[in-house]
This record gives sequence, structure tokens and C-alpha cells, in this order.
Amino acid sequence: MVKIICVVGTRPEAIKMAPLINQLKQQDWVECKVLATAQHRQLLDQVLNIFGITPDIDLDIMRPNQSLPELTARLLTLLDDVLAKENPDAVLAQGDTTTVMAVALACFYRKIPFGHIEAGLRTGDMSNPFPEEMNRIVAGRLARWHFAPTDSSRQNLLNEGFSDDYIYVTGNTVIDALLDVVTRCDNFLPQIEENRRLVLVTSHRRENFGAPFIEICRAIRTLVENNSDIDVLYPVHPNPNVRDVAYELLGDLSQVTLCEPLDYLPFVAAMKSAYLILSDSGGVQEEAPALGKPVLVLRRETERPEAVNEGVVKLVGPDYECIVREAQLLLSDEKAYKAMARGVSPYGDGHSSERIISVLRSAFN
Ligand code: UD1
Ligand code: UDP
Repeated sequence: MVKIICVVGTRPEAIKMAPLINQLKQQDWVECKVLATAQHRQLLDQVLNIFGITPDIDLDIMRPNQSLPELTARLLTLLDDVLAKENPDAVLAQGDTTTVMAVALACFYRKIPFGHIEAGLRTGDMSNPFPEEMNRIVAGRLARWHFAPTDSSRQNLLNEGFSDDYIYVTGNTVIDALLDVVTRCDNFLPQIEENRRLVLVTSHRRENFGAPFIEICRAIRTLVENNSDIDVLYPVHPNPNVRDVAYELLGDLSQVTLCEPLDYLPFVAAMKSAYLILSDSGGVQEEAPALGKPVLVLRRETERPEAVNEGVVKLVGPDYECIVREAQLLLSDEKAYKAMARGVSPYGDGHSSERIISVLRSAFN
């Protein structure tokens, strides 16, 4: 048996690792253990419940308003203890969070092969997104296997000098998760009155904390003031730097519903029902195009250029004027809206986990 530890820390990692974990558990040649760092607590537990996953090891690392240095330091020492005890043949982690960077480094110190899921995403700017661009560069540098979602992420790795022998274009496992959940989320569809349109909002990026996030909130305020037929649904991320400001700046608006983060099923149902999505999320940029929903990305750059190139996602930055202008265009101009509301899925076909497992199987013979 090949012992593989799958690590999850935050909500998006759990969503994107869940299909892979569940398929690995069915392999007769794999002993699959799930390690939750619990960099997120409630957000992580929600997702693991939905996919029926119980962690074998839980580091319960989240602290209120945790700082990055403290988080990183605690992760490294606790992860090293687990690796020493478990001595796995391989470790897998997804994406660009502090959990992933720390796992890759802990594996390096123990000489344990590390497989990076969602490898090769880059903006080329260390400050955008912060600290994720650095996290994924470190994770990539230390990985044995690079599971790149698209050709352009493979190309980024080739440009950095990685050998093509260890880069595998697999698609993104987020589409595996989405296609599973989309078939079972209809009980959670939000009620929308006739002739009203739902605008779904999410925001949590660290580089948007402070003035940029205030601009985003101001833009939302202007949009509801100018469009009496829209309702904004905004599940607020629990990070206090986001939460406190969102409630302070938007809490008084009757057309804006601020709520706790939604479980994955109701969130996918909300995406399905939305007319338009405003978000700085990575995962939402991948999922919404597959559902045919236009996304205005509240960031200046993206490591996911494929949907932008397809014309179904647009970068508007955390910029008041640009958000209001582009959102108003989609709300007022049917032709512009239809051009963006096309179902395309540049990030995957729902079979990414199978491809990753097949690579691992060959690697271990
Ligand atoms: C983290 C990731 C980011 C990812 C995002 C997904 C890092 C540095 N950041 O950002 O890349 O896009 O998750 O959502 O890895 N909190 C709770 N309950 C939870 C989760 C968070 O209360 O379930 C609060 C806590 O006060 C916590 C704070 O949010 O300290 C920040 O959490 P943290 O994981 O450090 O950063 P995120 O902003 O969530
Ligand atoms: N999501 C969710 N509930 C919410 C908001 C987002 O289930 O209230 C899902 C979303 O569908 C996507 C993932 O969480 O799959 C994205 O997580 P997040 O935006 O926190 O992180 P990122 O993708 O930016 O790293």
C-alpha cells in the first residue's frame, strides 16, 4: 500500500481536495489519510461535512485574526511532528494558502515527495495576491509532481525552468466538485421575486483590506441606489478585517442582505440564481463561467486569465468607478450581458481527480 496524506486548511482547499480524497479512498493500492490543519475552522468543517470527509488528524490551528508569521511558525512545527510520526510515501495539497506553503516546506525538510494540486498559477506580482503568489511559488519550487489545471499554468512552470516530465495538465478539481454539487443543490435555490435580479458578492483578499475594500462597498451602495430592481446577497467572510467593515458600510441598505458564509450547496445554488457576480475569489472565477454567470473580478490582476480571455470574466479592480460602470453596463445592456453570460469551462471537465490519481499510480508502479 502507498500511504498518501492529503492536507486541507481552508474552505477552497477542502472543496478542491474533496473529490480527489474521496476517489483516493476507493483505490485498493492507497492508504489515504486526511490531515486538516484547520487554518479555517467553521468554513472548513462545513465543506468536509458536505463531502462526507472526517479528518484523520486535525491540528485545529485557527486563532481569531491570526497573523501570517504566527500561523506559519505553528504550522511548520505541528506538521513536522505529523510527518515524523506518519512517514507517508507522498503528501498532496492544493493551491496557494499558508497551509500549502508550510506543508511543502515541511515535506522538503523530511525529504517526503510533495504533489502540488493547482500548480503553476501566477500573476507575476508578489503583492497581488498577497501572500498567495509567494505561497504558490514556494510550493511549486518544492514539489515533485505539478498538477497544472490548464496549458497556460503548465507554460508558467516551463518558463520558470521546471521539467515537463513532472508537469501534468489535469484540469482543476474544482469542476469535479462543482459538477457533483450542482446536481444536488436545487433545494437551496434562493427565492427571487418576479422582475428582480440577484447580484452575488464575495470579497476577502488581504491586498484589498482597508481603502480598496471601502471602495468596493461604496460601489455596491451606488449600484443599489441606481437600480431599484436588484437585490445584493453578500455572504461575508469571517475575517474581521472584512466582516466589520462590510457590516458598517452596507448594513443599513434594505436591498443588501449580509449573511454568514453559505455552505457550499446553498452557495452554488446562489451562483446558479445570480444575474451577476462581483467577487475577488479564485474559486468563484473558475466556477461561475461553468454556470454561465458573468463575474466582475474585484482585483487588478488574476492568475486565471483563461476566462478573461474567453470574455466571460472581467477585471474591474477594487476601483469604485470601474465597478459601477461595468456592473451598470451588464445591468442595462442586454447585448453586453449576453456576451458574458455564456457557459464555458476552461478550468476542467469534471475528471481532474482521475487524471491526478493515474499519474500517482504510475509514479508508484
Ligand atoms: C485564507 C487564505 C487565502 C484564501 C482564503 C479562502 C492565507 C494567507 N489566506 O484567507 O489564500 O483565499 O483563506 O477563504 O492562507 N476565520 C474564522 N473562521 C473560519 C475562517 C476564518 O473565524 O472558518 C477568521 C479568523 O479570525 C481567522 C481569520 O478569519 O483568523 C483569517 O483567516 P486566514 O486563514 O488567516 O485568512 P483568510 O483571510 O481566511
Ligand atoms: N464559497 C462557499 N460559500 C460562500 C462563499 C464561497 O461555499 O459563502 C465557495 C465558492 O463556491 C468557491 C470557494 O468557496 O468554491 C472559494 O473560496 P474563497 O473565495 O474563500 O477562496 P479562494 O477561492 O479565493 O481562495
